[in-house]
Amino acid sequence: MILIAGLVIFVACKNRGLKKETEKTEDKMEIVKEPFGIAPDGQEIDLFTLTNSNGMVAKITNFGGIVTSLLVPDKDGNMEDVVLGFDSLQPYLEEHPYFGALVGRYGNRIAKGKFTLNGIEYTLAVNNGENHLHGGLVGFDKVVWSAEPFQGDDRRGVILTCVSQDMEEGYPGNLTVKVTYSLTDQDEFTIVYEAVTDKVCPVNLTHHSYFNLTAGKSDILDHEMMINADRFVVVDEGLIPTGELRGVDGSAMDFLSPHSIGSRIDQVSGGYDHTYVLNEGDDEMVLAARVIEPVSGRIMEVYTTEPGVQFYTGNFLDGSLTGKNSVVYSKHYGFCLETQHFPDSPNQPEFPTTILSPGETYTHSTIYRFSTNQ
Ligand code: GLA
Repeated sequence: MILIAGLVIFVACKNRGLKKETEKTEDKMEIVKEPFGIAPDGQEIDLFTLTNSNGMVAKITNFGGIVTSLLVPDKDGNMEDVVLGFDSLQPYLEEHPYFGALVGRYGNRIAKGKFTLNGIEYTLAVNNGENHLHGGLVGFDKVVWSAEPFQGDDRRGVILTCVSQDMEEGYPGNLTVKVTYSLTDQDEFTIVYEAVTDKVCPVNLTHHSYFNLTAGKSDILDHEMMINADRFVVVDEGLIPTGELRGVDGSAMDFLSPHSIGSRIDQVSGGYDHTYVLNEGDDEMVLAARVIEPVSGRIMEVYTTEPGVQFYTGNFLDGSLTGKNSVVYSKHYGFCLETQHFPDSPNQPEFPTTILSPGETYTHSTIYRFSTNQ
């Protein structure tokens, strides 16, 4: 039961034989917890539905910390789902490209799954060609997290925790991770990541929602994108950094002023799948990107404390997966803005460090803020 001031209602869902717990406060903020299925190891998985005072909805499961739905108003107030994903647990247990997932220990790639720390070479699980991607074979996107809902004055959310064991996927140190998802009454979906370790290790946590602000009516190529970055991380064919941070300088990589995603994508081999080096501002949180979908009028802004954002245009979606509302996920049907440190940082001494030591706390905050242009 959710122990928060307010009226707590238990609803028996007769048609599914499932127990649903609803948290309702006087001003109709809501957190609903319901069963979402059973994980392969027999653990019961939950789905949390958060609703804000404007009717915006976020659905989160403790399997992989996955955001399964985000209902956001268009310019006429129609609430529609702007993230790709599934409406049941089973497809999330199978192969999928990190839809909505909480990614760790290391979001993005580590070359050949190897790095050296204090003279010791570590070998990670290799799951992307010869490289390590998004935490390995069983990354945080496949972990069953402990989940606690909470309610604050202008927000409600879920706190997810897990302990990644020493040498899991090859990483040293027991890493204790806490991720707080919140939906605020300012129409923000916020993520705060924290982690502590008992051995020196790399950490780079991120979130992998695929956004489609048309709510799946078309692909994302007409979305207008602004990315607040003068430079991007140059990568080789395996998407491993060469070490060069190159100026965008009016090229197809330049989103300093807004451009539709599709206008120059043909000039970028494979499509956009690059880390942008965010321009620093005076505040701890910088505006990383602003996306406008012209037909619905939806706007999404991303703010972060991280030095980079991976802009990925769903280049590997190929129509083989069908998601919620029977939408077929074809190429470029969603884009990701994954706030993070740069790929392969443990092997790139010039990049901002991703190394966490005992006694330190890893922290990272990101806000996805929604509005409309009317
Ligand atoms: C990240 C990577 C992409 C791809 C997707 C998952 O965004 O940068 O290359 O691996 O995850 O399909």
